[in-house]
Amino acid sequence: MKQPAPRAEVVVDLDAIAANTAVLRERVGRPLMAVVKADGYGHGLVPAARAVLAGGADALGVAVLEEALALRAAGVTAPLLAWLHAPGTDFAPALEAGVEVSANAEWGLAEVVAAARATGRPARLHLCADTGLSREGATTADWPALVAAAARAQADGEVEVVGLWSHMAYADAPTHPTIGAQVRVFEEAVGIARAAGLDGTRHLANSAATVALPDTWYDMVRPGVALYGLDPLGGDPAVHGLRPAMSVRARVALTKRVPAGVGVSYGHTYSPERETTLALVPVGYADGVPRAAGNRAPVLAAGAQRTIAGRVCMDQFVLDVGDDAVAPGDEVVLWGSGERGEPTAQQWADAVDTIHYELVTRVGGRFTRRHVGSAGAV
Ligand SMILES: Cc1ncc(COP(=O)(O)O)c(C=O)c1O
Repeated sequence: MKQPAPRAEVVVDLDAIAANTAVLRERVGRPLMAVVKADGYGHGLVPAARAVLAGGADALGVAVLEEALALRAAGVTAPLLAWLHAPGTDFAPALEAGVEVSANAEWGLAEVVAAARATGRPARLHLCADTGLSREGATTADWPALVAAAARAQADGEVEVVGLWSHMAYADAPTHPTIGAQVRVFEEAVGIARAAGLDGTRHLANSAATVALPDTWYDMVRPGVALYGLDPLGGDPAVHGLRPAMSVRARVALTKRVPAGVGVSYGHTYSPERETTLALVPVGYADGVPRAAGNRAPVLAAGAQRTIAGRVCMDQFVLDVGDDAVAPGDEVVLWGSGERGEPTAQQWADAVDTIHYELVTRVGGRFTRRHVGSAGAV
């Protein structure tokens, strides 16, 4: 029996992810750590990891240990760094799984050392310097003590410092003065570590820096969003040879003809000026379609882009398609590559005053996800 088309699905093109990775890897000509945290930016942790590796990524980066261990459990054996840990973390499973970890502070390093002693496995350790983001990393004031403690732990065979890294605040504005300032602080931090005998891979560049700031590439780049085909600079990804991998679709659940002046959706914030056809789309804010998209965000329906009519509800929203032909079951595309006339995640981000990162990582809920393409297939 023919399966009915899904009510709502996120379609992820793994070949696009692999191709984007290959474009960036070729451009930088040095190792690339592909960031696959947050469920592969909403594209699926394990399939995204396999696709970036198929595209030539040298290593994987995630935020938290749970993500790293899920990759190992799925049989992904590539070098893998997890950099965000809360106090009291048991690093033993990470060390046993060959996951590299990061320290921001001496107390965090002590927890890593404790796990190295307990397991008899030296930790492969990255030291993070705060070079101006004021987020993760040791400040310039705290860095020398962290370096000294790591050097002692390395001499004792408890850690091997394999990375020295930081994260950028403003790489999406490539001429911003903080960029040069962060580079200077990073180089000073690296100098202090080198003087203490620590010789790790230097990595600083996120996607924006990977496409726009060669001076930040050092020994390895660490892009995320660009791998998924989204322009980190907020423009057209094709300029960088990138293609969006995610397409978000739903099927019209109901259509109806209504007279001019009816109020549409909660609070009646939309009313058609003339008799029209309304189409009901069965996805809402519980599925990651932002409520702020009401009366603002575009979708492709019945061959044209149309703005959502009225408020986005928990499970559904409404479109005004005028006199165009639309029927229950017809496809509506919220965002995709743009190649078929659909809006892009960037257009949505502009419409709802957010960034495409937030849209792709939050879409989910009751959408099913389907992977197409063969990159990384096992
Ligand atoms: C520490 C770190 N490195 C790299 C990235 C990748 O950033 P982007 O997706 O902007 O390339 C992130 C993502 O936010 C991050 O937190």
